[in-house]
Amino acid sequence: MRIAALAALVATTTMLTPLMAQAPAPTAPAAPAAAAAATPAAGDAAAGERVFAQCRACHQVGETARNVVGPQLNGLFGRKAGSVAGFNYSPAFKTPAVAEKVWSPENFAVYIRNPREVTPGTRMVFAGIRSDTQIADLTAYLRQFAADGKRTP
Ligand code: HEC
Repeated sequence: MRIAALAALVATTTMLTPLMAQAPAPTAPAAPAAAAAATPAAGDAAAGERVFAQCRACHQVGETARNVVGPQLNGLFGRKAGSVAGFNYSPAFKTPAVAEKVWSPENFAVYIRNPREVTPGTRMVFAGIRSDTQIADLTAYLRQFAADGKRTP
């Protein structure tokens, strides 16, 4: 009985060995993930709406969006950084480096990962989002809002 079990174990191990020899295979799915990171537009807007819950304490989007703690985020991509009329940005957002910035999915992904590291002194007190997937989803959600706040799914 024990010998049979042992034999079965040996057989299983022998069968698994060739599979384990293909160890590099599991790394293959990393390629699509990297592509998604390079193309933030590939995100899921519905999931991004849930990610935006973390922003909602300070930011609004949509046709009734107002500046609250932070500026409204309508039409963000293609918008100059620090440019929303009537919002009192911090001095950190008035430096030339920020003033020259036009928001794109790429620089937004860098910023939102660690706002205070990218823009030292910013009033945006937010730890950042580390997940590339969440950033891509958030980007897909935000890009639905045109400058006038109209939403295009
Ligand atoms: C605790 C409040 C707070 C939270 C939470 C917060 N922000 Fe901000 N955000 C701000 C403030 C305040 C500013 C203006 C920064 C300044 O003047 O230094 C800002 C600025 C920004 C800007 C630059 C806007 C512009 O006009 O250039 C973007 C983009 C932004 N936030 C996105 C987000 C997103 C996306 C989230 C959620 C993942 C988020 N913020 C969470 C307060 C917040």
